[in-house]
Amino acid sequence: MTEKIDFNDENSNTSNNLTFDTVLQARLSRRSLLLGSAGAAGAVAFATVGLTGCGGTNDPAVVVPPVVVPPAPLLGFNAVAKNLNDVVTVPVGYTASVLYALGDPLRAGTAAYRNDGTDDDFENRAGDHHDGMEWFGLDASSRPSASAVDRGLLAINHEATTDTGNPGSSSFFLHANGGTTTLPRPAAEVDKEVAIHGISVVEVKKTGSAWANVSTSAFNFRLTPLSDIEISGPARSNALLVTKYSTNGVRTRGTINNCGTGKTPWGSLLTGEENWAGYFTRGAADDAARSNDKSVTSLKRYGRAQGAASRHGWETGGAADKYQRWNNSKLGASSDGSDDYRNELNGMGYVVEVDPYDKTRAARKRTAMGRFAHESASFSIPAAGKPLAVYMGDDSRNEYIYKFVSTANWDAADASPISAIATGDKYLDSGKLYVAKFASDGTGQWIELALSNATVAAYATYTFADHADICVNTRLAGDAVGATKMDRPEWNGVNPANGEIYFTLTNNSNRNINASGSSQLVPDSANPRAYTDFKGTTAQNGNPNGHILRIKEGTVGSAATTFTWDVYLFGAQSDADATTINLSALTADQDFSSPDGLVFSRNTGIMWIQTDDGAYTDVTNCMMLAAMPGQVGDGAKRTLNYTKADASTLSVDTYVGKVPTPATLKRFLVGPKACEITGLTETPDGKAIFINIQHPGETTLLANIATPSLYTSQWPSNAGYGAGNRPRSATIVITKNDGGKIGT
Ligand code: FEO
Ligand code: CA
Ligand code: CA
Repeated sequence: MTEKIDFNDENSNTSNNLTFDTVLQARLSRRSLLLGSAGAAGAVAFATVGLTGCGGTNDPAVVVPPVVVPPAPLLGFNAVAKNLNDVVTVPVGYTASVLYALGDPLRAGTAAYRNDGTDDDFENRAGDHHDGMEWFGLDASSRPSASAVDRGLLAINHEATTDTGNPGSSSFFLHANGGTTTLPRPAAEVDKEVAIHGISVVEVKKTGSAWANVSTSAFNFRLTPLSDIEISGPARSNALLVTKYSTNGVRTRGTINNCGTGKTPWGSLLTGEENWAGYFTRGAADDAARSNDKSVTSLKRYGRAQGAASRHGWETGGAADKYQRWNNSKLGASSDGSDDYRNELNGMGYVVEVDPYDKTRAARKRTAMGRFAHESASFSIPAAGKPLAVYMGDDSRNEYIYKFVSTANWDAADASPISAIATGDKYLDSGKLYVAKFASDGTGQWIELALSNATVAAYATYTFADHADICVNTRLAGDAVGATKMDRPEWNGVNPANGEIYFTLTNNSNRNINASGSSQLVPDSANPRAYTDFKGTTAQNGNPNGHILRIKEGTVGSAATTFTWDVYLFGAQSDADATTINLSALTADQDFSSPDGLVFSRNTGIMWIQTDDGAYTDVTNCMMLAAMPGQVGDGAKRTLNYTKADASTLSVDTYVGKVPTPATLKRFLVGPKACEITGLTETPDGKAIFINIQHPGETTLLANIATPSLYTSQWPSNAGYGAGNRPRSATIVITKNDGGKIGT
């Protein structure tokens, strides 16, 4: 099979930033050869459930009435064993039920999903690749409610779609015969594929103990890549945002590749635009067409060199504007871009604020928070009279961690269950944007990205015209100040117990003790591992298992410009070498690879860790773990000693959090085949959690589209949900059979 292009693993940071530890010399003490422990998926007492009702309330262990649940210890469940089963596995005493899958109707008049590639009308159905998700309660009178526990709206990102990975490829499960694999793409195929991106807002309701989506709810709506969205903040009306669609740069069309989420203290949704660049194409001679101006520097830094092919070839769907906008070439004669889509890419890559309760209100792209491959956006614990901080990661190899600090100080009167998008204007359109730089002594700095910073203003590679230019070309500003290149920052979350910030760093194939070239990096203190892990006989180099880093702000809190940090956990398989790889001493009940989703429960304080892995998947499907983390500094300093190819030594100091115990880290769930686990939200009582099973069966070959038995996964139809055999991304709800809080 030809090598797939991974549009989710973009790598455009070839800036010459020295990582702070390049003065140290590199050395790999030992290349550990790890063979998959296939026997690890042994028989342990756990429930295997994949559908409504399985392992349900007939369980003889269920004796505690829901209303009188006694206090229970956190993580009071038996760990789920790693496994390769095509089901959702949760602990004994829990039930997982499918709630909302690709294609499910959102309107009374929309037909049930046939799931055979003949369905259409995706503007009125669930999109694909469910990702980040937030809960918004509704009371019995259909008013927003912070306390409702049995009725609410789920706002759900639909990140992407399952394809072959080749440029111009179809979303093959959406088409009867798998769709076209050559250009031009038929308009009808393109229209379907565009519409399954964006976000859903869907009402969900509990009747008795059973949850279901409400397909006829008037609250339901979709945002797609064709929805009208306002540009807000410093880049609004800027020349960089001028397009044929919005000649004054105040609007743009749609949101795409929505990955992580956040919920504002005033009750609205934040959705992060992640790997948006790959959907656009750029002509082979476009650099010259642009006279090699600074827009070329910007486009390259954001992954669109001239000649870049688009992921699905949507620009070939026809002459209509909605297809041509995917062509990012300079084609028009205007000097400002008002007659083409040369600036279209500048309208993507933001945190977008959405009012989930009101589909008539335009969403807003919050440009003050920077433009990159956004994952989640987590708020500092709001403190009256102090600014709000929002933490954000840029998920590509070697990219950075950011924080936005509001100009406005928090007014507790703004806290609301009612989404007030004007409140977002107050807190998210004006503020300071910082990038993180980690030092080898366990401290770090937030460096402001502003023209008042002389290093930014004097950057030779790219001249920033104004602050809007920094907001649009945030990565370049991060390069200018020498921010620390990280191992792919994914989600982050703020611990409600102490305000510390946890960042998943999912993996990085570019870490190399013998680093050469501008994209390869030697290990540094915050990204200290470079090793070889074997998946079967395939060597996986760099930091294939990822880690979770945490930050404690300086004494002034959200506005601090210094912090301390350590590594909470290193992903590893439990039998990996403990001195170089399994630094957190994970056991078989705890081991994981490629952490991605990370969400704290505001009810129990449990930190949920979700994986999107390809490294340990010979042993187990992707998973979710429950953690009760401690605090920065609760572990110890470790020094990793590497021997480089030239026999010189590299010693890297790092800081490893306290080794977890069964009481502080335990696997809670394993998903079906070839999926990732992502997104998590809960009812305010902590008694129902909602998570997403994204792209089950994504490794299915297009050639097997007519042979369901050859699909990698048939979930959730194999669990009794819906028609057809094609695998579908879906939201599931997890409840405890005794009515208790999840994770107790
Ligand atoms: Fe959409 Fe970085 O995962
Ligand atoms: Ca992610
Ligand atoms: Ca992912």
